Amino acid sequence: MVRSLLRLWPFVRPVKTRLISAAAVAIVAASMGLVMPLVLKWIVDGPVADDDSRGVWLGGAVLLLVGTAEALLFGLRRWLVARPLARVEADMRFALYRHVQRLPVSFHDRWATGQLLSRGTGDLQLLRMFLAFGLTFLVVNSATIVLGLGVLLVQDWSLGLILAAPIAPLIWLCVLFEAKFSVVARRAQDQMGDLTTVVEESILGIRVIKGFGRHRSQARAFRALSGELVETELRKARLMGGIWLVILALPEVFLGAALVLGVVRVADGDLTAGTLVAFMTTAMALRWPVESIGFLLALCNEAGTATDRFFEVLDTEIPPDIPPALPAGPAARPLPAPAGPERDGIRFENVVFRYPDSPPGAPPVLDGIDLRVRPGETLALVGGTGSGKTTLLSLVPRLYEVTSGRVLLDGADIATLPLRDVRAMVAVAFEDPTLFSATVAENVLMGAEDADPAELERALRVSQAAGFVAALPHGPRTQVGEQGLSLSGGQRQRLALARAVIGRPRFLVLDDPLSALDVHTEARVEAALRDVLSATTALVVAHRPSTVQLADRVALMSGGRIAAVGTHPELLSTSAEYRYLMTGERNEVPAR
Ligand SMILES: Nc1ncnc2c1ncn2[C@@H]1O[C@H](COP(=O)(O)OP(=O)(O)OP(=O)(O)O)[C@@H](O)[C@H]1O
Ligand SMILES: [Mg+2]
Repeated sequence: MVRSLLRLWPFVRPVKTRLISAAAVAIVAASMGLVMPLVLKWIVDGPVADDDSRGVWLGGAVLLLVGTAEALLFGLRRWLVARPLARVEADMRFALYRHVQRLPVSFHDRWATGQLLSRGTGDLQLLRMFLAFGLTFLVVNSATIVLGLGVLLVQDWSLGLILAAPIAPLIWLCVLFEAKFSVVARRAQDQMGDLTTVVEESILGIRVIKGFGRHRSQARAFRALSGELVETELRKARLMGGIWLVILALPEVFLGAALVLGVVRVADGDLTAGTLVAFMTTAMALRWPVESIGFLLALCNEAGTATDRFFEVLDTEIPPDIPPALPAGPAARPLPAPAGPERDGIRFENVVFRYPDSPPGAPPVLDGIDLRVRPGETLALVGGTGSGKTTLLSLVPRLYEVTSGRVLLDGADIATLPLRDVRAMVAVAFEDPTLFSATVAENVLMGAEDADPAELERALRVSQAAGFVAALPHGPRTQVGEQGLSLSGGQRQRLALARAVIGRPRFLVLDDPLSALDVHTEARVEAALRDVLSATTALVVAHRPSTVQLADRVALMSGGRIAAVGTHPELLSTSAEYRYLMTGERNEVPAR
């Protein structure tokens, strides 16, 4: 746990002075609490014994002063830590967000969104609470206990020893508790992440859930998960209850013993009443520090697991931009100029690809792909569902790294180019057109931030979106709502297409970009796209003959391989599978 918590140091370092001064202030404030019994002792043995009423008033005033100082100092401590720690939390959250954004797509295939969300929210809040409160008071209360014991021993060493007796067994019990509690705390935090995933998914998928009337079964699933979390929380509470019981009861027993012995000794006359009062009030002042230890230990523990969970994400390495293991091959050249004789189009050379999380023995999704898209050409990719088309496209902007083989853009192996350069050359539109809660214009301009309004206008025209965008309440400045769900599927698809074409990319990768359009709109988009496509090299997944018409040539994908390449009419006459996919003729279904 300590090792985990030490990892927070880089984030805490900028505010260390504040934290240390806050702890120092708190220690001074806590020692004020320990001064009180000494003043009391003086009052009891002095003015009270001597019947000196002025002295009693004076003592009372001193007590009031010390109490006020204590309160003020605790207030000062709060003020010292509040702002810097809010910043620490914000910094950590930013570090997490930035890291998650930079992690490869394969990481997100593996990790549930809820696990990431709960780490960025609940766990970080817990860490702030630990830093603001838990850490300080662990230090302060331990210091108070040591100081207080010192004061007790100085006042009367034999009574003091009685009170010190339970310390060793208490520490031992706390260590035992710590080991048990950390397991349960970790489980609770992970279950919270799972629960967040269910909530997140069911809110994103609310239309499907309602459409299928699944809200009851969804609610049951939620209840089951939250029931598990409740069980874990109860386990935590039981453990806490146990340790509290011991931490509260054990010192009380020894306190009682000390009191009895003290009273006997006062009666015998070998102890002053003032000393006994001071002794007992000091012991009472130590109750909260001792009692809080169990709670603080639990908080430390939870903070430890929260730190582990935070760093599990942050420790996931971002693969280097240019893997050092892949030296530039013979055909690879430095980033070539956008036009001219250097232009070579897109080449796949013996590309084999397996998803990083697929089981070891599984056959590759792409198996020995050799394919060339000539410069300026549009190549349509046709294939049965699940044949690997989307997977092949995702290799071009290097969303995944090839397992073996190479992908070359204008002669340069993309594995040897910085990701930023690859993505500046390639524009994409995926099967599900993802929009963000922003304006129409902002969504489209993601494709080219520095594009001017004329470019925006042109991109919207190409994708036949200009008409409906103009009809929106605020034109291109209309907010599209979360995920663009205020728009129709075809409208979203056209905006995603506009985003792909706005930057006049050198390479355009489109995954079935017109699937949601009616035939007339599709025809108009195609006519406009032809102009764009003549200037760029494009790889377009197509399911319909009308989309295929856009292309100069067609590649047929089948079971992760390129089965045939040719023009549309050529493939129609030579490939039975192609004929089947394009026309639905069933008489020659190829065996697969
Ligand atoms: N993220 C992923 N992790 C593991 N396997 C995946 C992943 N995405 C796809 N696959 C698998 O890879 C294979 C090819 O999927 P892909 O999405 O490339 O097919 P597709 O040709 O685009 O199909 P469609 O026409 O239905 O879009 C499928 O068997 C699929 O199960
Ligand atoms: Mg696909």
